[in-house]
Amino acid sequence: MALDGARTTAAVFLEAVPGANGAYVPPPDYWPTVRAACDADGALLVADEVLTGFGRTGTPFGFQHWGVTPDMITVAKGLASGYATIGAVIVHERVASYFDANILACGLTYYAHPTACAAALETMKLYEDEQLYANAARLGPVLLRELDAVAARIAVPAYVRGLGLLAAIAPEAPLDRWKQLGTELAERRLSLHVDGKRGTAIFAPPLCITEEELVRGVRAFGDAAVAAFGGAA
Ligand SMILES: Cc1ncc(COP(=O)(O)O)c(C=O)c1O
Repeated sequence: MALDGARTTAAVFLEAVPGANGAYVPPPDYWPTVRAACDADGALLVADEVLTGFGRTGTPFGFQHWGVTPDMITVAKGLASGYATIGAVIVHERVASYFDANILACGLTYYAHPTACAAALETMKLYEDEQLYANAARLGPVLLRELDAVAARIAVPAYVRGLGLLAAIAPEAPLDRWKQLGTELAERRLSLHVDGKRGTAIFAPPLCITEEELVRGVRAFGDAAVAAFGGAA
């Protein structure tokens, strides 16, 4: 923003923890620094919570780990947990109030569709009834511990990072080894986001997973990783 000069930026979009790009967890001052820069420039701060919203990182929204308040929040995936096609934008009062006097001229065929909204409401109820955000918060450290154990089992250096039930392991290995990992995972009927070009495997298990299922799954991933990258000496 500083490069462009003040008041030329309408909005800044941030993912709390970037998902498919590698589950990098920002440092503690990152969100507050961007919030302050947005305030200084009169720009809106938009939290893209499509992936991290609704408990993925152990809090209702991912940005809450950094103690900031965005002006807008985009949500989709966890809103109805994939059972219905629905996305939404949540806006702060200071944005919403503008539309008290101004018409928001937009409309979609399935805008506010009652079936999708019913699925979203039922999903919200299940999050609460089954305490699924707390489950993600409790199992996050278990996921990191198990991924650290995988890193210790394989022959190549591997970095582990994550927050709640969103984590990545990044073994430093050539592309052919990553292709082999894909084969090993398929043979074990394991499905996760593996990106050999970026060198990361992303873990985002269902929030209802049990500790036993999580540990079993990551250890099975570890077997596949040893087969693909070699075992530690
Ligand atoms: C962080 C993030 N933002 C936005 C999107 C796009 O969401 P939608 O397909 O609901 O428009 C995705 C989809 O994967 C995502 O992961």
